[in-house]
Amino acid sequence: MTVFPWPALDGIAYGGDYNPEQWPRDVWDEDVALMRDAGVSLVSVGIFSWAALEPSEGSFDLAWLDELLDLLHANGIAVDLGTPTASPPAWFFAAYPEARVVAADGTVLGFGSRGMASHAAPEYRTAIARVAGQLAHRYADHPAVVMWHVHNEYGVPVGEDFSPRSVAAWRVWLQRRHGSLDALNAAWGTAFWGQTFHDWEHVVAPAAMPSVPNPAMRLDWARYTDEQLRECFRIERDAIRAHASQPITTNFMAHQSWNTDLWTWAQEVDVVSDDHYLWSPDSDAQVGLALAADLTRSVAGGRPWMLMEHSTSAVNWQGVNVAKRPGEMERNAMAHLARGADAVMFFQWRASRSGAEKFHSAMLPHAGPRSRVFREVVTLGDHVGRLAELRGSRVRAEVAVLYDWESLWAQDLEWRPSDALGFRERVRAYYERLWRDGVTVDFAHPEHDLSGYRLVVAPASYLLTAEGAANLTRYVDGGGTLLVSCFAAVVDEHDAVHPGGFGAPLRDALGVAVEEFLPLRTGETCVVDLDGEVLEADVWSEHLVVDGAEVRGTYRGGPADGMPAVTRHAHGAGAGWYVSTRLGVGALAPVLAAVYRDAGIEPGGQPEGLEVVTRHGDDADYVFAVNHRAEPAALDVVGMELLSGKPVDGEFEIPAGDVAVFRTTQRPQGGGR
Ligand code: GLA
Repeated sequence: MTVFPWPALDGIAYGGDYNPEQWPRDVWDEDVALMRDAGVSLVSVGIFSWAALEPSEGSFDLAWLDELLDLLHANGIAVDLGTPTASPPAWFFAAYPEARVVAADGTVLGFGSRGMASHAAPEYRTAIARVAGQLAHRYADHPAVVMWHVHNEYGVPVGEDFSPRSVAAWRVWLQRRHGSLDALNAAWGTAFWGQTFHDWEHVVAPAAMPSVPNPAMRLDWARYTDEQLRECFRIERDAIRAHASQPITTNFMAHQSWNTDLWTWAQEVDVVSDDHYLWSPDSDAQVGLALAADLTRSVAGGRPWMLMEHSTSAVNWQGVNVAKRPGEMERNAMAHLARGADAVMFFQWRASRSGAEKFHSAMLPHAGPRSRVFREVVTLGDHVGRLAELRGSRVRAEVAVLYDWESLWAQDLEWRPSDALGFRERVRAYYERLWRDGVTVDFAHPEHDLSGYRLVVAPASYLLTAEGAANLTRYVDGGGTLLVSCFAAVVDEHDAVHPGGFGAPLRDALGVAVEEFLPLRTGETCVVDLDGEVLEADVWSEHLVVDGAEVRGTYRGGPADGMPAVTRHAHGAGAGWYVSTRLGVGALAPVLAAVYRDAGIEPGGQPEGLEVVTRHGDDADYVFAVNHRAEPAALDVVGMELLSGKPVDGEFEIPAGDVAVFRTTQRPQGGGR
């Protein structure tokens, strides 16, 4: 197995955020005793502790942290040591009011909540380097500290900053990116609406404006914000690295992140980690969980990653915060492990009595250790302990789903042909179809090497560079099967329509041209006749002109009545499919079935709702079976069920809502071409 940076821990890490500065000292002893009962091996400490660590500028009080780390170490609990820079203390904002973040509407964001200061403020940059360096200097050799956790969830609750200093930094960034004002004017298309700049000092940020800001400016602003946040990360990482050698991470938020392009961020960390919370209004939130986990593993380049936060039960920040039902936490945790996580961590260890998150669940809830949640936490700790041997094993996929943050930034701007066609919605719909079909997927960037996949799905490639399109065309040429969803390859990296019209860069691969978008009114539907099967569509249709492709589905009704809706084009040794409308998860089933046949993919075949994923180790494979159904489900396996320690030879029944993990030496199907 290849060697990669990983905290010095045995087995799968188990634990959560630990904020003992909120509690009297005697509670710490109870905490560590209960952590031991629960099998906790790792806790994240200090993430919001700046005010306690540096009570006044430049003067540090680390005695309490010394004591805490010693206590944890004495109890065999390792530490993921946080830098507290997502929550600067009161003294910082009092001393440097100009370092406060300014929102797009000009509101200056004040102290009394949490959130970083301006990423462009020199005082903030100095202060984060100082506190991170101080911690690293002190704890580089502390035996409890096995890794470093920089900041918390870059990009939320604040990422964008419209303060004068940020706007000045933006102009410098633009000069670097575009070289000259002429180049900037050309890239942004400022001849439109008379926006041409003749002086760098006149270049503005996309703050509040009378009408829609220049979209290319918005897109560059997203890139600028992302890079500024990453610079702040690097300042802290390098301050730590000057003293300490343990792996360094920062916690991502995969499919929920907006300001951070995680393909790039993943290159900067030693270990990828992710936070994931179920979205209560979504009754199939386990699908969103699987998507986030696969996306995290993919940005990590397939390497193991850490689930840094999830919840034991309800969160507190959604409109209605639904509690997890018995067994749900275990299913969630195991689904993350199935998709490549080698750590199961929660926010947080002990529920806070005060503050904004007192209604957030915890490993140790307000109800105390004699509670359902704590009992399940103890059981999960035991189960995680039994899975130590699968650490480092990998998930393999034959299908890649394209995911590009630049396309997300661009597609979700204002004044598109239809607000109802969103990036995340389309990614989720295609992903959910694959999930329900039991097909394991990786995510990939359009410019990645895709040659190892039998099928590449592009659910939301509104922005596709000429290089990305050429890569996809080469992929098809070389024998791959490509499935592209509507509103694709419309604009380039400046949000300018591709020369030749919508979708032009993919014309060779798909054999179609898009003449006009024909969105549907809210509530309006149309029908696609796919080889005699009737599929309901909504939101979107297109006037498609066939240029070599074979028509597989035709519109019936709606603005595109009688026109081609779904096409397949043989190109080189492969094929390019195009779906020009919005199909729901159900309507996508026959389309995907045809595409799987074309690509030579055999879907899992398990009953829908039984999530089966395999991790491949050096000597064995590990098959996770997570039963989300209300009925039992059976699986054919030969090997050992690791949670019960029982040998299995043939059909194994997984009760409703339960999880099984098998070690098997009989390799199930899978693997790249
Ligand atoms: C985020 C934060 C945590 C906590 C949780 C609550 O993930 O990182 O500090 O606020 O949300 O769900």
